[in-house]
Amino acid sequence: MDELNRLLEAVTGEAGRGLFFSGSAGIGKSRLLREGVATLPTDRFAIWSIAASATTAALPFGGLVQVLPAEQPQGLSPAGVLRWALNVLQQQAAGRRIVLAIDDAHLLDPPSAALVHLVARAENATVVGTLRDGEQIPLPIRALWTDDLVEHVELSPMPQEETADLLTAILGGPVDAGSADRLGRLSAGNPLLLRELVHAASGSAELKRTYGIWKWTGRLELAPSLTDLIDTRVGKLTDGVRAVVELVAFGEPLGLHLLKQAAAQADVETAEERGLIAVIQHDRRTDVRLAHPLYGEVMRRRCPVSRTRRLQAHLAELLEQVGKRRRDDLLRVAVWRLDSGTAQDPGLLVDAAVQAFTRYDVPLATRLARAALNADGGSDAAELLATILMFADRPDEAIEVLDAVTPEPGDERRFCRWLTVRGMVSYWGLSQESTVEEIASRVEQLTDSADRSRVHAFEAIMRLHRLDTSTAVRLSRQVLDRPAAGVASRELARSTIAYVQAAQGELTRSGTAIAQVHSAAASWRTDMPYLQLALELARGTRLMLTGDLAGIDAIVADEFADLAGAGDFRLGTGYLAILQAYAARLRGQSDAAMRTSLGACAVLATSRVYAGLAQAERAQSAALRGDATQAVAAMAEADRTHAPGMAVLYPWLEQARGASLAASGDLPGAVKHLADLVDRLRSDGFAGHEVHVLHDLVRLEQAGMAVGPTCSDGGRRTVAQRLAELSERVDGVLPPLLARHARAAVTDDPTDLLAVADDYAALELTVYAAEATSQAVQRLRRQHSAAANDARERLAGLLGRCDLIRTPALQAGAPVLTEREWQVARLAAHGAPSRAIAERLYLSARTVENHLQRIYAKLGVTGRAELWAALRAIPGHDGGDGS
Ligand SMILES: Nc1ncnc2c1ncn2[C@@H]1O[C@H](COP(=O)(O)OP(=O)(O)OP(=O)(O)O)[C@@H](O)[C@H]1O
Ligand SMILES: [Mg+2]
Repeated sequence: MDELNRLLEAVTGEAGRGLFFSGSAGIGKSRLLREGVATLPTDRFAIWSIAASATTAALPFGGLVQVLPAEQPQGLSPAGVLRWALNVLQQQAAGRRIVLAIDDAHLLDPPSAALVHLVARAENATVVGTLRDGEQIPLPIRALWTDDLVEHVELSPMPQEETADLLTAILGGPVDAGSADRLGRLSAGNPLLLRELVHAASGSAELKRTYGIWKWTGRLELAPSLTDLIDTRVGKLTDGVRAVVELVAFGEPLGLHLLKQAAAQADVETAEERGLIAVIQHDRRTDVRLAHPLYGEVMRRRCPVSRTRRLQAHLAELLEQVGKRRRDDLLRVAVWRLDSGTAQDPGLLVDAAVQAFTRYDVPLATRLARAALNADGGSDAAELLATILMFADRPDEAIEVLDAVTPEPGDERRFCRWLTVRGMVSYWGLSQESTVEEIASRVEQLTDSADRSRVHAFEAIMRLHRLDTSTAVRLSRQVLDRPAAGVASRELARSTIAYVQAAQGELTRSGTAIAQVHSAAASWRTDMPYLQLALELARGTRLMLTGDLAGIDAIVADEFADLAGAGDFRLGTGYLAILQAYAARLRGQSDAAMRTSLGACAVLATSRVYAGLAQAERAQSAALRGDATQAVAAMAEADRTHAPGMAVLYPWLEQARGASLAASGDLPGAVKHLADLVDRLRSDGFAGHEVHVLHDLVRLEQAGMAVGPTCSDGGRRTVAQRLAELSERVDGVLPPLLARHARAAVTDDPTDLLAVADDYAALELTVYAAEATSQAVQRLRRQHSAAANDARERLAGLLGRCDLIRTPALQAGAPVLTEREWQVARLAAHGAPSRAIAERLYLSARTVENHLQRIYAKLGVTGRAELWAALRAIPGHDGGDGS
């Protein structure tokens, strides 16, 4: 069959792209997938077949429960979980090509969907699957097409001639041609419908076998719907068989041993014989599933709420009785308890909430933690719930939860934990700066050294955020020096120090510290999950200051924002989007930068933590495009939303303000603002930031400007000198490059400027490269150098790699042509002779010649041959013929 071949070709072929079948219910997708996968040789392919279902969709990684090992390592980030899972598959594949076959992929839970996407991206792996028409498809699965990772085949109905064969097979004997024809048309080529039609008729007088041939004499004007037929059939089941199907409908995949506890063996067998359930062997377990998902849909719909709850409670009891074997069982039991209103065991709920949270399913974790609290889970449940709510950017609710369980100060351990969680929510979530003093005074009530360290580590990171850097570092060092301090406290302290080091330009040491916090994640993540945010901020800041765009790409790809996004982990998703926008912006991808920063603003709109930063990044993107109106509006939003408790982020905001002023045409204002910012950064010791702001001044042709205090020699340093000085103190390849750029600008050395541009381009800092080249072009033109044309070509090439960008450095050198001159120039650049241009524009040939001479002069070119490059080097113009 055609479709089967396409499936095999997709897996075994050279291209190795995956394939998804779609089509209506019962059309035969699952069967086709099953048959196709069964023919693959297992010595070349490591095959995993997964069937997603409505019941697994409610659990994080529920869809892939048969694929992943029962034990997930503790303490992994969302990306870590996915990477771990992919590694597991790769190990088990042992060099064979991975084939992941996913039936009903639209029912995958978000983390499973994200993993499937990741597998599809991996080398040496193919994803195949089915999707039912009209269902909502998870984003990572839909992205398989947009990212061109799979092909798509719409299954067509079974042709008429196959209907007769299928009928013969179902009935176990030949069928009269007329009956086959009528049944075939009624079923519209849908095998399941055909099967159900036969089922409905069997046993009645309408379907009879005479002389060995089956004949159907029934009369149906309209085909009954598939669900109606199933509904009728299910309605006729005996109580015992119905109970079996119901349990499977709410609990699939259900262990056979479990089902046997709850139902009579004979009923289980009958259900299987009638083709309602299927028994499937997996390695060491035997699972029962519905033979077709529609049975489950019908069954669940028929089931009244009270009965549904009873069934779920029953399933939970069963699983508890036989003993929870896998970690997933814990979650399943908890969700059944939750759904059936029988969630009374706070310990179970807290454990399940932690597990859901470890898998970054924030909505489920929230439900479970709240249920734990309602079941008298006390302060453990409250702290967990508050933490989860904080991650989901719901601080008001978090505070309410915490204040309801204020501990007695006598209970030190509890008090310490409560104090820190509450401090986190109140400082970052509610922007209450007095939190710092409150915490600092209450730490005195604690006697235990580990408890004190924990609170001190918290106090330190708060102080960092409000720019009390020296206290932050001092407290953090104390924590690290105290042997009694717990792992989480130490790593939090280390993150604080890593941030400060990055801001101060000690990027190497900062990197080492970040790697250390990261590698200890398994030991702190359960104890202090919010440390993740501190780690990410330090890591992101360091990457931005290093100008390490590839590093940013890596963590963005790594963290696979989809998973976090699906899990409602808003602070995480939002911050990643800011990093992504930053990288796009420096590459000159202004469309992506704009889109991503807008996305960050949307996700973080209500956040008091990063909203201002997101708006500042949007202002930068807008400024890059020369969109002053939006840049100014974004800055206003940044000022409105930026929390004073996030003062440590001021360098980014103020840098964006400089860009916004420049984009608005207020160059003197921008220069003054940036120069003041340089002074402020210098006095705060933020050399890591300072080099970037000094470079902004270079971009505005202020490399020779005096900045900073008067030195002992009585003079002040220029931007270029200060950059040279800092390039010896700030780590990385970027500062020396920035310093060279400044020096070349001061000495008006176009050759050096072009060399600097090449080095920027090698780092993918395309905007800086284009600007340095534009500065070179301007100097070459002033020097009437013949090399100007070549430089212009290079500029055009760089601009060709960017979306629309319009910065002052690019505009400054850009000649201003009138509308008419543009028309003439474009046509001439495309090779039209003057006469043709004249005809086209209703001008005289002489006028065209005059225009051309003026254009050459303005652009500094000698003739038509150089015109094309010169036009393309003007930012915002692609040299198109304008017609
Ligand atoms: N070509 C065929 N020949 C015989 N039986 C078939 C054929 N195709 C499908 N069937 C049978 O029809 C029924 C429905 O097929 P299948 O389960 O593959 O449907 P589906 O498209 O996956 O539907 P859904 O979207 O509801 O999952 C199954 O019992 C299957 O065995
Ligand atoms: Mg199916």
